[in-house]
Amino acid sequence: IKIYSDGADIRDMREAAKNDFLSGFTTNPSLMKKAGVKDYLTFAKEVVKEFPDYSISFEVFSNDHDTMLKEAELLHSLGKNVYVKIPIITTEGKSTASIIKYLSEKGVSINVTAIATIDQVKEAVASFAPGTKNIVSIFVGRVADTGTDPTEFVKESVAATKDHPEAQLLWASTREVINIFQAQELGVDIITVPPTIIKKLANVGKSAEKVSLDTVLGFEKDIKASGLK
Ligand code: E4P
Repeated sequence: IKIYSDGADIRDMREAAKNDFLSGFTTNPSLMKKAGVKDYLTFAKEVVKEFPDYSISFEVFSNDHDTMLKEAELLHSLGKNVYVKIPIITTEGKSTASIIKYLSEKGVSINVTAIATIDQVKEAVASFAPGTKNIVSIFVGRVADTGTDPTEFVKESVAATKDHPEAQLLWASTREVINIFQAQELGVDIITVPPTIIKKLANVGKSAEKVSLDTVLGFEKDIKASGLK
């Protein structure tokens, strides 16, 4: 499985890139807000310049058809390694399939985002032009957040993309380290992981006894640090 870093803080991105396993980055408007990005284009150019060998996904901001196309073309022009993220629906709930199809035919690599149903996966895959390279981002964590087990959705998405070389399936909304192993087991191509979870990969292989001991050591450290009586 390929592992990407999910975020828009350039320092976190640099830190994540120190891991040999990392091969890409994903961003979205909420992550940019969280990272305090003020000028999108300046940020995007800086990222592309610094990481020319990584897959990088930048999202359009607009919902309006024409502006979306302009934004997509601008983002695409930043580098060959850029995937333009287009949400599968607009904020009015309308399908963006025709926009994806149009851009794909023009050779823009697309990352279809905000996907939460198998029909949306199929719609995205059907919109890609032959011979293009694209990503289908399924928001597994957000589905799980509704109390629904997302396993079937992931399995169906793997089946819907596996005979389509133009579509790589990406597990988005990663919540826990275990998700990386689940995604790999289910045959997902890529998982994008927040930096906080990338750091937790240091725990992989730790014994349960050590988890327990580290827990109480952590409590002791925090009691001392806080001066609690
Ligand atoms: C990445 O491409 C997605 O935008 C991201 O993983 C979404 O994460 P969230 O659902 O936790 O906000």
